[in-house]
Amino acid sequence: MASLTIRKLDDAIKSHLRLRSASNGRSVEEEVRVILRDYCEGRPATAAPAPTAAPAQSERPTAPQAVHGEARVTLIIGGGIAAYKALDLIRRLKERHIDVRCVLTRAAQQFVTPLAASALSHQRVHTDLFDAGSEFDAGHIRLARECDLIVVAPATADLMAKMAQGHADDLASAILLATNRPILLAPAMNPLMWNNAATRRNVLQLRRDGVAMTGPNAGEMAEAGEAGVGRMSEPTEIAAAAIDMLRPPKPRPLAGKHVLITAGPTHEPIDPVRYIANRSSGKQGFAIAAAAQAAGADVTLVSGPVGLRDPAGVTVIRVESARDMLDQVEAALPADIAIFAAAVADWRVASEGAQKLKKTTAGMPQLALVENPDILATISRLKDERPPLVIGFAAETEHLIDNAKAKIARKGCDWILANDVSPATGVMGGDRNTVHLLTRKGKDIDVDSWPVMTKEQVADKLVAAIAKALEESS
Ligand code: CTP
Repeated sequence: MASLTIRKLDDAIKSHLRLRSASNGRSVEEEVRVILRDYCEGRPATAAPAPTAAPAQSERPTAPQAVHGEARVTLIIGGGIAAYKALDLIRRLKERHIDVRCVLTRAAQQFVTPLAASALSHQRVHTDLFDAGSEFDAGHIRLARECDLIVVAPATADLMAKMAQGHADDLASAILLATNRPILLAPAMNPLMWNNAATRRNVLQLRRDGVAMTGPNAGEMAEAGEAGVGRMSEPTEIAAAAIDMLRPPKPRPLAGKHVLITAGPTHEPIDPVRYIANRSSGKQGFAIAAAAQAAGADVTLVSGPVGLRDPAGVTVIRVESARDMLDQVEAALPADIAIFAAAVADWRVASEGAQKLKKTTAGMPQLALVENPDILATISRLKDERPPLVIGFAAETEHLIDNAKAKIARKGCDWILANDVSPATGVMGGDRNTVHLLTRKGKDIDVDSWPVMTKEQVADKLVAAIAKALEESS
């Protein structure tokens, strides 16, 4: 069967896939699987729950101001049983020093009163598009614009349908149509309504329009005996998503760069059931992939067998042996930055048994080993497609810096992260790492020793060092 390589798709499709996968918290590969499954099952979009889905910076309307005492949210409360939780949401937002102005739809007033929302928000509550008190100066336009963010909680199926279609026949829908501010929806509805093809279409349309969503969550419904995806996110979750959107956009120093990363161990087969392996967990390489993705890079992660989830928005290619890893790394080129964090097995068995090796009276099998290709050295020595920045790791148990200096020269890479992997350090398989960054400076090699950190912190610091080097070289 023909194989599909995501890297070889058109740039526009890749960028759409990356956005979609990151906002759904899936790897690019998983996202493609979901799209294909939905297509085969005749669904316009996935029926899976949508986690927080902040739109990409480029899709967001006017950038909101920082979260401080003056951040303002217009909270539209839709008509559903979850409306009672919107009262708690007002409290949560106020606790975070956010000014909240509430709008209640006609249906919402069946569940909560304007008086309760007004008492909690310390503001007048708005309910009517044709309210002489506020519409004399186009109040709905002010509610739509004089805020940093619009939150709709609960976002009912009906309200979402109206938004997707651009209706404006009541105050809530008129505000949503007239705004140029970011919008966060907290959908809440019966699971059958959420999974209905019409709602799926509307959700897809709203996402394309740059609307962010938090939830819905899975769980019990208000209707006795019903459960599924459709519960509104908890007020603390909605407040956290709102705060995220109110923060100034994060810098994306690696935007437009392709970062290629290897991670994990390799498994070198002895026979169909046995293999040679090592203790690498893949955590450091996966953390670097996540940090590079968060910094805006297009990331390909080629990983040996590990028990880790694919980082969101990253193209993950799973391999077994060193030779498979090299093939996939070469197929993923060109790259702007290549980081080799994998603990590749140095040797493999010369001739892999086609059948399980059996115990015989003739004695122990003799396993002859041959050397595996050195992926880092191979890529560092490429003539045409050598990535401009090649970074290796040096896993040592003695003479850390001296061995790492020798390795940087032997392998021909630009930087090396040297770490002590002696059992006493707990680095192999653990969550923390102590590394020294060695960088070539002409004929010299600089050594920068970092304090003990979590593997995520090491990843962030490495990405920051890469971003700084890129800036200096441009
Ligand atoms: N590496 C590689 N391919 C190999 C072996 C290692 O790409 N066949 C890479 C690793 O991903 C790492 C660097 O080379 O970035 C150094 O790996 P390490 O295990 O520290 O060193 P080795 O090359 O295996 O040398 P030695 O075992 O002698 O220390």
